[in-house]
Amino acid sequence: MRMIPLILITALILILSLEESDANPLPPASHLPVIKEFPDPFLMQSGKRLTTKREWNARRKEIISLILGYEYGHMPPPPRNLTYQLSSTESTLDGTATLRKYLLEFGAKHACKLHMELLVPNGDGPFPVILTGDGCWGEAPLQNEIIRRGYILAQFDRTEIAPDSPQRDIGVYPLYPGYDWGSLAAWAWGYSRAVDFLEKLPIVDKRRIAITGHSRGGKTVLLAGALDTRIALTNPNDSGCGGAGSFRFHGEGSETLASICKVFPFWFSPNLQQFTTEVDRLPFDQHFLTSLVAPRALLLTDALGDAWGNPSGTQLVYLATKETYRFLGALEKLGSWYRPGEHAHNAQDWAALLDFADFQFFHKSHPDDFSGRSFPNEPTAFTWKAP
Ligand code: GCU
Repeated sequence: MRMIPLILITALILILSLEESDANPLPPASHLPVIKEFPDPFLMQSGKRLTTKREWNARRKEIISLILGYEYGHMPPPPRNLTYQLSSTESTLDGTATLRKYLLEFGAKHACKLHMELLVPNGDGPFPVILTGDGCWGEAPLQNEIIRRGYILAQFDRTEIAPDSPQRDIGVYPLYPGYDWGSLAAWAWGYSRAVDFLEKLPIVDKRRIAITGHSRGGKTVLLAGALDTRIALTNPNDSGCGGAGSFRFHGEGSETLASICKVFPFWFSPNLQQFTTEVDRLPFDQHFLTSLVAPRALLLTDALGDAWGNPSGTQLVYLATKETYRFLGALEKLGSWYRPGEHAHNAQDWAALLDFADFQFFHKSHPDDFSGRSFPNEPTAFTWKAP
């Protein structure tokens, strides 16, 4: 007898939650207004503009639902059953560090597997961490320097989580059917699982976890850092279109929304396709995504010769993001850094990240210019200001 009300209540909750999601689908692009400049991140969907910092959390939720709904797709909840095994340890870098290899297992029936390698400085820690999922592209540079500055370098291969292809029958996709996520969201979800793991290790300084990635890996870390508030510092490198580059404003020769949707549709939610000829109907631009990182630390690193990566359109996103950091009283947490040269994640980029991390985490001074003004003649992409 006592079971019946419980069953009824559960059914009612299910019906209500289904109705709620059905009743409020995001409108199609054709029903959205044309907005030629960057949309105002401080304007709530109700039409009311934010006035106090305390209202930001509610707006943040609205922005997350726009970004996931139209751009990247939705992710499953954290699995909460992650286990790991240490498979080997080895002294390395002339005895200054230990390489520890782990196997992580999580998700339904522990079917998701992820290999992680940690390069750990000698000593007890806890150490701050630089985490990257770009293991598929080879080893990170500057390993001696990372260790010398007292950081753990944690590396994994994001393509173990999901392939960099349209294939949907491998990686996490078959384990979580029914999600509209593309590879960028799946990879970002993988970053959060790596953080689940790092948080379990006593040698890790949980308040000082930084993530970095390049190009498609940069788009990934920006999404991961936007959503996962355990990540203290986010560094997308040359992330361009679908990363920190604007969809609306481009420098000459830069990748467009139409182009990325044609060549890499599987990186995104299928919903993004409807904007290929209607970019100005997007209810956001990428400054909405970067703003989700605030007030945590965010460093955009870009190359002036990387025309395809839209360095000037990234500066506009940076300037718009500054308004959110100003609003939240965290301007010193935001940085943008440009170097001459081509599309790459090179030692210079890594050194800039280490300087920025030393500054953010340990208040160390640095020689770098993190004020991001490399294109003085760019048009203003927005007319609003932080409230
Ligand atoms: C392609 C793609 C870019 C991406 C880059 C990369 O050039 O068009 O959006 O950033 O690959 O990941 O290297």
